[in-house]
Parts: sequence; C-alpha cells; structure tokens
Amino acid sequence: MDGNGRWALRRGRPRWTGHRAGAQTVRMVVEHCAHRGVRDLTLYAFSSDNWKRADVEVRALLTLFESHFRTEAARLAREGVRLTVIGRRDRLPTTLVRAITDAESLTAPGDAMHLRVAIDYSSRDALRAVPFEPLPPVDLLIRTGGERRLSDFLLWECAYAELAFLDVAWPDLTRDQLDAALNEFSRRDRRFGAAPLHLSVSA
Ligand code: FPP
Repeated sequence: MDGNGRWALRRGRPRWTGHRAGAQTVRMVVEHCAHRGVRDLTLYAFSSDNWKRADVEVRALLTLFESHFRTEAARLAREGVRLTVIGRRDRLPTTLVRAITDAESLTAPGDAMHLRVAIDYSSRDALRAVPFEPLPPVDLLIRTGGERRLSDFLLWECAYAELAFLDVAWPDLTRDQLDAALNEFSRRDRRFGAAPLHLSVSA
C-alpha cells in the first residue's frame, strides 16, 4: 500500500494524513475483493523496517491501526470476513494488541474471505523462525506507488506470484483500477514452470 507519504506531501500536508486517507482505500479494497470472490487478501501495513521512520509517523500509524480494527471489526464480521494480523506483536502498544485480539475473535467465524494485515512484519524474519509456517501461496501481488520491489513481503509465498506495479498512490487507487489489475491477472498464462501446451488442430 505504497504512496501515502508522497500523496500527503504533494498536498502540503504531513505524511500521516496520507495514511489516514489510505485507510479509506483499505475499506474499498477489502469490500471489493470480497465482492469479486477473492478468498485471501493480505495487506502490508507496517514492515519491521518501518520502525526507522519518525516517531510522529509511527505513532500515527499505530493509532490508525487500532482505531481501524475497533471501528471495522463488526462490519467485517457481518460480511463474513475473517481478520488476522501477521507479524510480531511484542513491540506493539498493548492497546493495539488488545484491539487486534478482539477483532480476531469477533471475526473468527468468517468464511467468505480471509483478510490478513501485516504489522511489524518481515518475511526474512519469518523465514528464519523455527518452525516457519508458510501462508497460502500468493497468486497476485499488487504494489501501488510506482516502486518495483518486494520490500521483504511474503518472499517465500511469492515464488510464483504474478506481479502488478501500479503507478498510482494508494489513497488514489480506484475500484476501476483494482478491477483492471484483477482482470489482467485472470488473463495471464500461469504455467508454474511447465512447458506451454501445443494443441494440434485438425479440420
Ligand atoms: C507505505 O507508503 C505505507 C505504509 C507504511 C502504511 C500503510 C498504512 C495504511 C494504508 C493505513 C491504513 C491501514 C490499515 C490496515 C488500517 P509510504 O508512506 O511509504 O509512501 P511513500 O512511498 O509515498 O513515502
């Protein structure tokens, strides 16, 4: 979910206001993916390297996550969306950890879509853990904001992921652009290393 900081700076506002705007996009994306039949959706909200950011931005993000989980949990539960948070919890404020566990319990029965939010997440750290527990393989990875890298996100799970890099800041992402990325993905020829099929045609 890249491009929030630049979105805000372009408007002469502090970076955290871009994250606040980005939370609206999160709502749209979750709702639309569920509507499109996506079974698993993982959002990269805060990487373990994001602790290097200014205190004011980190605090704003953690507060935003907490209020988002508090306000959205009931709606997610109603829509059958199960929420889980991946990443380390031992460095998060206790009030945020409580909001996470409350939202996870409330949404636990949801079976329409599994929404994972990665907070204080590092794929390299996860891979070093004993035992490593892989998440479902990623089919499509969408990165907004114009950057073309993985930034320590689901490295093992992305082994055969199709990649979509969108030149739009996360807060500006529209439903149509998301739809276009999903539609383009469904047209891709995924062979997982196998040779292409050569059909013989006779008339
Ligand atoms: C990266 O953009 C984005 C983040 C580090 C935070 C993402 C968080 C949200 C969208 C807030 C809402 C999320 C939830 C789950 C409620 P950036 O700040 O690195 O952008 P830049 O490259 O323009 O600086």
